Amino acid sequence: MRRLRSIGLVLAGCCLLLSALFLTASGKDKPDQKLISRGKYLVSAIGCNDCHTPFKMGPKGPEPDMTRFLSGHPQDMVLPPAPAAAHGSWIGSFAATMTAWAGPWGVSFTRNLTPDKETGLGDWTEQNFITTIRTGKRMGKGRDLLPPMPFPAFQNMTDGDLKAIFAYLQTIPVVKNKVPEPIPPAGTPAEAK
Ligand code: HEC
Repeated sequence: MRRLRSIGLVLAGCCLLLSALFLTASGKDKPDQKLISRGKYLVSAIGCNDCHTPFKMGPKGPEPDMTRFLSGHPQDMVLPPAPAAAHGSWIGSFAATMTAWAGPWGVSFTRNLTPDKETGLGDWTEQNFITTIRTGKRMGKGRDLLPPMPFPAFQNMTDGDLKAIFAYLQTIPVVKNKVPEPIPPAGTPAEAK
């Protein structure tokens, strides 16, 4: 009888241990749905689409092409040289896709934010993303981010919100699209990457 009881105790102990292990493991692997939906809300409310999703002409005028959601300036879109420098109060111009921007900084192209490992943010960590926004430099050590990326405004977000945005971006459909590097202003040597 005593032996039976101790076997019972051992079995119960094993069950507890196994369920604890299972809970920890599943907690780690399960994407945090609350964080992801907060990120989705922030991305839609802030309007990352306006620059990072190529616009196309729709029945009611230009609209984001959702098949290329947040994939940045299309690699196959060959643009003529940007118009000559604007005059007076006009400072720049942008392509019909809203993904290429010309101004005193040269020409900038909005980047691929989808989780593609080669051409998007698939290889980025949450820390890479937060550091890029907080410092205004790619990964905190690369070149300065160019206009019109509104990172000075995004720096007002909490770490929690930036984590949520990154978590959501990692769940959107992968689009392979290699965005061109920026073109420096005429007469200026290319900046180190
Ligand atoms: C007004 C236009 C605009 C808006 C709105 C915008 N971006 Fe950008 N973003 C850009 C441009 C242009 C670049 C490229 C800048 C460069 O090459 O230096 C960029 C670059 C980035 C980068 C750097 C990626 C890399 O590979 O270096 C990240 C990350 C980013 N944007 C995230 C976001 C997120 C997230 C949002 C919305 C919360 C957003 N952006 C909204 C214009 C915009």
